[in-house]
Amino acid sequence: MKFCFVIHPTSLEDVARYEPGAVGKGRPLIEKIMEWMPAYAAVHVTGVRTPDGRETEGWFVAAPFMPEPMLRLPRETVYEKILGAIEIGASLGAEIAGLGAFTGVVGDAGITIAERSPIAVTTGNSLTIAAGVESLLRGAHEMEIPLQSSTAVVIGATGSIGSACVELIAPHVEHVVLVARNRTRLERYVESLRERVSCGLSISTDVREAVPRGRVVLTATTSTQELIEPDDLQTGAVVCELSLPHDVGRRVALERPDVLVTEGGNMRVPGTPRFERVREPGRDFDLGLPPQAALACMSETMVLALENRRENYTLGRGIALERVLEIDRLAKRAGFTLAGMRAFDAAVTPAQVAAARAAARERRTANGDRLVSSRAVP
Ligand SMILES: NC(=O)c1ccc[n+]([C@@H]2O[C@H](COP(=O)([O-])OP(=O)(O)OC[C@H]3O[C@@H](n4cnc5c(N)ncnc54)[C@H](OP(=O)(O)O)[C@@H]3O)[C@@H](O)[C@H]2O)c1
Repeated sequence: MKFCFVIHPTSLEDVARYEPGAVGKGRPLIEKIMEWMPAYAAVHVTGVRTPDGRETEGWFVAAPFMPEPMLRLPRETVYEKILGAIEIGASLGAEIAGLGAFTGVVGDAGITIAERSPIAVTTGNSLTIAAGVESLLRGAHEMEIPLQSSTAVVIGATGSIGSACVELIAPHVEHVVLVARNRTRLERYVESLRERVSCGLSISTDVREAVPRGRVVLTATTSTQELIEPDDLQTGAVVCELSLPHDVGRRVALERPDVLVTEGGNMRVPGTPRFERVREPGRDFDLGLPPQAALACMSETMVLALENRRENYTLGRGIALERVLEIDRLAKRAGFTLAGMRAFDAAVTPAQVAAARAAARERRTANGDRLVSSRAVP
């Protein structure tokens, strides 16, 4: 069974990769041009092959929009272009469509789109959740963080991805701080959560107040601005970044050598995957990821195609944890694994991880072993 996956640029760097001709045109003009552009098939994906010999192929179909207009424009305008992209995928033979980045966020997170789509739909968020939490735990292990006595901060904790991440992280840590802007939704969610988790829980509507409280941080917001600055983070913290566009400021890479930032949703695709530009056959499409890697939401769509699951899979907010566990199991069986660590458009090498660990130890010794953020250091 074949798949399609709806993509759109989440940053100007993405635009430069899709359309080098757009470089230097300025954000307002690029946003306008994109609003006028119809959907188009951008990438042909081949060579996805499981260890037991199953294969799939598919297309990434672009729904040209920058993130801000997707939140600002009339919902029907955005839905129309996303459905146009799915129809192109279906005409190429796809039987399931994944919704990338903000195409799975806008409105009711895929429910209306699935009702109007000629083929099955998934946001891909279930595998994003599983891969994100696995990446966070891998990072915490690398940074020698004693999880059982640590506080985790989840930003975007009432969202489709963030809320499920809270539940999966809670059994590993002493306390979770849930962060979002809407206090009522936070209070409602944390109350329902108390029945299911045994760790301490608190809420915050202020990212910069909350982040210094935890040594383990996961971001899954729809903010279009950077939210985390170098001074916010504890010594030796690990940050798993799921948000697209990203929430962690680039200055963190320069100013906090003791902190490990890792993009959480990247997966190594099994077989010999090829991402070839439709308009320029023979030329590969640069996803801004390591070779042979795809986002977890793309991977979920591929796994469902490999499993011949012609059904709507992950839709809406309030994702069932059983789905997260099931897609994680199916992905592992199909040979999908976490990709190597990556942050700020570059691989994080084992030597860089070791250097971050050493810098954290040194900084802790200098600060009398206190796990404080530099903002709190007198
Ligand atoms: N890496 C991957 O493979 C992958 C896959 C799919 C999606 N994503 C990305 O994951 C992110 C989350 O997606 P989702 O479907 O979970 O979205 P969602 O359901 O709309 O949830 C967004 C969450 O972020 C909070 N939020 C938004 N702006 C915020 C701000 N400025 N400060 C603090 N909290 C804020 C929202 O609550 P309030 O509105 O109350 O603030 C909500 O809790 C998106 O960036 C999406 O592109 C990544």
